[in-house]
Amino acid sequence: MTTPADSSGGQGAGTNVVAMRPEQAPPAELSAHAREVIDEALTHYPEDQRQSAVLAALREVQHENQGFLTVPLMDAVADYLGMARIAVYEVASFYSMLETSPCGRHSVSICTNVSCMLRGADELVAHVTERLGIQIGETTPDGRIYLKREEECLAACCGAPMMMVDHVYYEDLTPESVDAILDGLE
Ligand code: FES
Repeated sequence: MTTPADSSGGQGAGTNVVAMRPEQAPPAELSAHAREVIDEALTHYPEDQRQSAVLAALREVQHENQGFLTVPLMDAVADYLGMARIAVYEVASFYSMLETSPCGRHSVSICTNVSCMLRGADELVAHVTERLGIQIGETTPDGRIYLKREEECLAACCGAPMMMVDHVYYEDLTPESVDAILDGLE
């Protein structure tokens, strides 16, 4: 693992974050709307706990940047919240809803844990990867669909097999219903 040359002097963040770090790139500028969202989140926490708004900040910044974070954006969040940059990298590389590299417009995660596996999840994964022509972790060439990951149990076992598309659950899936859902994504 490489150590990023961040201004905090801390130790290395996740490899994916380091790999995308443009050397000497200045922090990005947060949009007025992003600052509004962060300021609103900050009202929920004590004044000396600004770091508590980091997840809300990263979610908004990611949303405004086509679904992924860059190091200059994370640096801007760190500076705005008065946090060490390395601490923001750690948050971004820990939570699965945050992306640190470009990905597709729609995030698709198929659950392959026990209940879903017993109800055909592996066949669904095989069907989807073949139909889209990509593997898990890849994005379709048109940038439409990102097969994010084979998800661990998403707590919807009674609807197995299931998948999550842009944080919406779809249950009792068949290859045909999956095709209809994916075909409906713009
Ligand atoms: S095993 Fe898939 S939702 Fe629980």
